[in-house]
Parts: sequence; C-alpha cells; structure tokens
Amino acid sequence: MTNHSLLLWLLLFLDGASGAVEVSVIKGDSVTLQTGVSELQNDNKVDWTHGDGTIVAEIENKEIKTKDPAKLFKGRLEIDRKTGSLTIINITTEDKGFYKLDIRGKDLISKNFNVTVRGSAKRVSVKEGESVTLHTGVTDKQRYDQILWRFKDQDIAEINKGKNHVLVHDRNEEKNTIRFQLNENSGSLTISDSKSIDSGDYHLNMTSSTHSIWRTFSVNVKTIEKMDNQTPGLHPGYIALIVVCVLIVLPLAAAVIYFCNKEHEII
Ligand SMILES: *[C@@H]1O[C@H](CO)[C@@H](O)[C@H](O)[C@H]1NC(C)=O
Ligand SMILES: *[C@@H]1O[C@H](CO)[C@@H](O)[C@H](O)[C@H]1NC(C)=O
Ligand SMILES: *[C@@H]1O[C@H](CO)[C@@H](O)[C@H](O)[C@H]1NC(C)=O
Repeated sequence: MTNHSLLLWLLLFLDGASGAVEVSVIKGDSVTLQTGVSELQNDNKVDWTHGDGTIVAEIENKEIKTKDPAKLFKGRLEIDRKTGSLTIINITTEDKGFYKLDIRGKDLISKNFNVTVRGSAKRVSVKEGESVTLHTGVTDKQRYDQILWRFKDQDIAEINKGKNHVLVHDRNEEKNTIRFQLNENSGSLTISDSKSIDSGDYHLNMTSSTHSIWRTFSVNVKTIEKMDNQTPGLHPGYIALIVVCVLIVLPLAAAVIYFCNKEHEII
C-alpha cells in the first residue's frame, strides 16, 4: 500500500465510519441528503441503504435501478439521477437512523448520515397583536450555508453564510415597521405584533453542502372581536338575547296561544 492510498483509505474510513453527517429534522419535513457529486459518471454505481442495510435506492449507468424496493417510503422517496442525491418527503419517525451512501467507480465514495426525527408542533395559533416565533431548531448557524423563509411566494428573511448577511423584508410597507425578526444564530423567525394578514403557511429552507431541509409552519392569527362589531358574526350579547327568546319567550307565547284556543273550545 502506498502512502497515498493509505491516506485515501484513512480519509474514507474517517468519513464513512465515524464522521456521520448529523441531520436533525422534525416529523413532516422533507430532507435531501447530498452525495456531494455534481454529476455522476457513466461507470458510477450508487447505493443508498438504510438502517441495517435495507436497500433504499440504486443508480447504475445513470439510470435508476431500484427505488424503495422494500416499499418503506410509500412514494415519499426521490432520487436525483444526475447527482444521486436522495430526498425523503414528509419524513416520519420510522425513517430515522443511518443512511449509507456508496458510490463505486474509479474511487469509492462513502458517506453516512445520522437522521434523527423529532416531533414538534408546526401549527401555531396566536391572538392578534401577540408575537410568534417559528423555530429552526438550529443551534450552530455554521451548519447551514443558507436559511431562507418564504411566505406567500415571497422571500421574507434570509441568512446567507457565503455572503454573511441578514436580510429582513417586511410586507407591511404602508406602516413602514419591521415586524419580522431573524435570530442571527438560530435563523428562527419572529413575527411581532401579529396581524390576521400574517396567517398562512411559512416555508423554511435550510441548505448546507451535505443536506437540505424543507419545512412548513402553519400560522393562524385569531382576530379579537371588537365592541363596535365590525367583524362579521354576532356579538355574544345578541346571541344570549336570542337564546333567552328561544328558551323563555317562545314557549310562553306557545302556552298562551294554546290556552286561548282551549278556552275557545270550552265556550
Ligand atoms: C404527511 O404524512 C402524514 C402521515 O404520516 C399525512 O397525514 C399527511 O397528510 C402528509 N402530509 C403531506 C403534506 O403529504
Ligand atoms: C446519531 O444522532 C443522535 C442524535 O444527535 C445521537 O444521539 C447518536 O449518538 C448518533 N449516533 C451516532 C452513532 O453517532
Ligand atoms: C431550497 O434551497 C435550495 C438552495 O437555494 C434550492 O436548491 C432548493 O430547490 C430549495 N428547495 C425548495 C424545496 O425550494
């Protein structure tokens, strides 16, 4: 064994065995595990396995040979023919564990991904005026090259490691106030002084060289009913009045009519 191949072997060992890429997702996320290869060669054979060696996907001669033969993912698996990267859509807790990649060709490229799946609320309900924070769960911002938030097909906030800048856009231009805040370390998004127009789906896209995560949060901002009754729907006072009418006044009227008729009969 030459020094060169020994070094290569050592690097492969470190990368493949102990240097697993830690991927932490929330149930329902979509995640792409990157091969790191920009384009597969014709003679490359790609193998993805899960857990104790269950075959997840294989590519040979740039064609997908098998995809989810064990039917574990029920149509939630995608594999990129060009790069070999694997995408798991709407991830479940059963999908957790180790994913092993082997690309065979002139050299052997091996990678391990340790995927952990947590359960966490992605539906948030707040009262108008309250603030709400959507958490990325990221503790070390260096792990993602880009953290991007989209709302109603518009980028609202972004951290871009390459350019090292934080952008915060606010849709509420007429008021000229910044209500979206981005935590520079975690990338979590805070909407302060929430309004009903903030209700909807917020899409989070976190990208690194090893993997990317796509997540959707549903935010519901509940409006507070005002005394001037501008919002549609009945004031609770009116509802109480109607209930009183139905329960007391109507039976009373019915009784009166009934007895009046009875008196007629007697006469
Ligand atoms: C994700 O999977 C769950 C079941 O695990 C299902 O109830 C839900 O509808 C799926 N969501 C999407 C967006 O497909
Ligand atoms: C996989 O990740 C989980 C969560 O970070 C960790 O507890 C576990 O030790 C990891 N496993 C290995 C073998 O690195
Ligand atoms: C997430 O961002 C990456 C990099 O900008 C992009 O390639 C990818 O298509 C995005 N994913 C989704 C689901 O938009």
